[in-house]
Amino acid sequence: MIRIILAFLRFLPPEFSHFLTLLSLKSGMFKNVSRIRNNQVLHQVIWNIEFENPLGLAAGFDKNAEVINETLDLGFGFVEVGTVTPKPQYGNAKPRVFRLNQDKAIINHLGFNNLGMQSMKKKLIKRSQNPYLPFGILGINIGKNYDTKKDFEDYIECINNLGPYADYLVINISSPNTPKLRELQHRENLEELINIVKKNNDLNKISKPILIKIAPDLNDQQKRDIALTSLAQGIDGIIISNTSISRPKTLFSKHKDEIGGLSGKPIFLPSTNLLKEMFIYTGGRIPLIGVGGITTGKDAYEKIKSGASLIQIYTGLVFEGPKAINKINSELIYLLQADGYGNISEAVGADVQ
Ligand SMILES: Cc1cc2nc3c(=O)[nH]c(=O)nc-3n(C[C@H](O)[C@H](O)[C@H](O)COP(=O)(O)O)c2cc1C
Repeated sequence: MIRIILAFLRFLPPEFSHFLTLLSLKSGMFKNVSRIRNNQVLHQVIWNIEFENPLGLAAGFDKNAEVINETLDLGFGFVEVGTVTPKPQYGNAKPRVFRLNQDKAIINHLGFNNLGMQSMKKKLIKRSQNPYLPFGILGINIGKNYDTKKDFEDYIECINNLGPYADYLVINISSPNTPKLRELQHRENLEELINIVKKNNDLNKISKPILIKIAPDLNDQQKRDIALTSLAQGIDGIIISNTSISRPKTLFSKHKDEIGGLSGKPIFLPSTNLLKEMFIYTGGRIPLIGVGGITTGKDAYEKIKSGASLIQIYTGLVFEGPKAINKINSELIYLLQADGYGNISEAVGADVQ
């Protein structure tokens, strides 16, 4: 049944098919997917948070926190909602999402379309009153409005409003579709931003882990600067990576030259290479989340051996459907055990040292 629905959705414009996917999730259609529970090979404690398994839903799928429980029920160890901005915004003009079927990739220039932080806050308050929540961790990915005059304050507003409901927060400084956002990855800007965030969080007693999410299109100096700044300022984690503005020569789908961020299979290698470099530059002292082009347990295992403690998926889910989630986790258990690991944490960075 799920396979038929997926085949049908693939014929529709991507944004409309995403809308229908969210509707089907809300309807409870995917409720009885069996999930891996209490597996000691996959279990980890990171930032004092228990992760039942390392596979998370990447930001951008559930921009408005509409299907947190439903996506956790699919078998994810954690889900990340957003990117959310202080004010609601429509984003760029449509069409703005393109499926590159032959390349197993997507290009999007959505531009942080979302209903804004107050709308998300309402949903999170309601959710916090539900005593029957599924087990799983919630990350909130925050950004700035495209027309803001006060970049840093946008992040602070989101943290102060949404922080209490998150298990961890992600400062998104890497989406390619918001003007000047990626400039926040430059050393002086990043130092200032993190400084302001840390001061705010001390003042307001917000003790949630703060992660940053970076682009795969950085030069060596930028990579080193981000690693050193993260270590110096006590950043809790780095998500590697967002979508890419580069276009590998191997792409052959008709939408390959659309403007925006490329995700899926073609970015697996560059984002995994960046993961390795950041693991080296940070000396393995900051937990990294590997994301970009994962579709199988083997991909996930490669990310882990390249330095990721946790992993996320988005585009792979669009092409493979929800069955991919438990498949990736099962394959991961098999691959870890075949290599003699008793727990996933032992394999983190094994290919890098
Ligand atoms: C349609 C679409 C929308 C996205 N929106 C966001 C977003 O709002 N915030 C963000 O941090 N990343 C966003 N991403 C990037 C993903 O979270 C992820 O970093 C990237 O797609 C690489 O992973 P993947 O190859 O598994 O898709 C988006 C990706 C896609 C395909």
